Amino acid sequence: MSDTQLVSHGIGRDVARKLGLPQPVTLRRYRPGEPLVPGPVLIIGDSAGSEDLATSLLSWELDVRRNALPKEKLGAIVLVLDGVEHPDDLAAPVLTVASLLRDLAPNGRVVTVSRPASTAASPAAAAARQAVDGFLRSLAKELRAGATANGIVLADGVPSSSPSALGALRFLLSGRSAFVDGQFITVGTDSGKLPDDVDRPLSSKVAVVTGAARGIGAAIARTLHRDGAVLVLIDVPAAGEQLAAVANEVHGTALQLDITREDAARRILDHALERHGRLDIMIHNAGITRDKLLANMDEARWNSVIAVNIAAQLRINQTLLSSDALSQAPRIVSLASTSGIAGNRGQTNYAASKAAVIGMVRATAPLLKDAGGTINAVAPGFIETEMTHRIPFATREIARRLNSLQQGGRPEDVAETIAFLASDAAGGISGEVLRVCGQNMVGA
Ligand code: NAI
Repeated sequence: MSDTQLVSHGIGRDVARKLGLPQPVTLRRYRPGEPLVPGPVLIIGDSAGSEDLATSLLSWELDVRRNALPKEKLGAIVLVLDGVEHPDDLAAPVLTVASLLRDLAPNGRVVTVSRPASTAASPAAAAARQAVDGFLRSLAKELRAGATANGIVLADGVPSSSPSALGALRFLLSGRSAFVDGQFITVGTDSGKLPDDVDRPLSSKVAVVTGAARGIGAAIARTLHRDGAVLVLIDVPAAGEQLAAVANEVHGTALQLDITREDAARRILDHALERHGRLDIMIHNAGITRDKLLANMDEARWNSVIAVNIAAQLRINQTLLSSDALSQAPRIVSLASTSGIAGNRGQTNYAASKAAVIGMVRATAPLLKDAGGTINAVAPGFIETEMTHRIPFATREIARRLNSLQQGGRPEDVAETIAFLASDAAGGISGEVLRVCGQNMVGA
């Protein structure tokens, strides 16, 4: 039973009410063939970038507005702020959004498009650009009924019509980003390519997913399969039966392998090349927790978490990068965690390993650049899996609601973000960390 069902019915609802916990709404999640947004898309802004975006959105056959019609429910508001040079420039566009927020449909979207403060030409421009950050994150906390607010930051020189800007916008408007809230996606370059078939963006790609027997890994397998990828699924021999079941379901091949083995990378490469002839996408999902307060931490707990969550990934990446077997424009996506960003009591080992993933991703991105490859991390917040079902009941009930969407995410929410980052459309996004946490309040 999902979290939403659990607290909307019977005993779960009564317990949730007694605890004074909010009632979560059902989030709009992606289904192929369904409309991208639940209504017309209003584009606010008068820069050349906003014109380009309007033209692109029209080519997606969306109902695009440059001015809102009275009393019309809007599916999304795209606020293009790529030309702001002083904080005073924000008032007019922001207050236009303010006047329209009550017209935003349930599960609607607000997306800002802006430039990075770090490269602004003047303190005033940097102030204006950075202001978008605070504005957007606060707005995300104010929206209700499953609506989200996220931003796209375009590096200077990257046009708003670049493949990854449009890819990111499509992702953020769609139900694929249901549990992504209050976040920014930075597009660093003009690389990437929009898919010919938007419902099968990973068509003919060969993808490896570790830890695929259950939880988020199994959801990643299903989502990549739906998007057209051919799959190699990995998990420990003890999970062999579950792994085979997932592999059968997605018509992929199963490889029973402990990723901490010295020869893991070689075996992954050999399997992918022998069975599928190539390797395009590597998803480092396998991960473990061995929670203890640091005062009670022992060597086995510390070492095993570091070994699985980061050391194995480092070793596998090193072999992949030094082999010529990776295809052109490879994609690597690693699972981090909000614990690795904000820290978490009882998780010094886990948080260290997940912060390490972020460090690794940032340092590896330049190494993949020449091959047109990318590497990114996805940091989930509270996701409903066996890992989080082990948390004691009361702590869990509170933890899953400490975010702007007031519910836990689902494994498929993480999988959708990974599928986006693995796609050709995300070719201009590398070295980034994207949180899938419903705008978790902890360490936000
Ligand atoms: P899970 O415990 O349900 O599944 C993890 C899978 O990895 C299992 O099938 C396990 O057998 C496999 N695995 C563990 N060690 C392995 C090894 N040495 N070699 C090969 N496979 C191995 O975990 P869940 O919740 O699906 O998490 C997946 C990833 O997402 C992990 O990296 C986790 O740290 C991360 N994550 C999960 C969150 C959540 O709320 N569930 C939050 C933040 C991050």
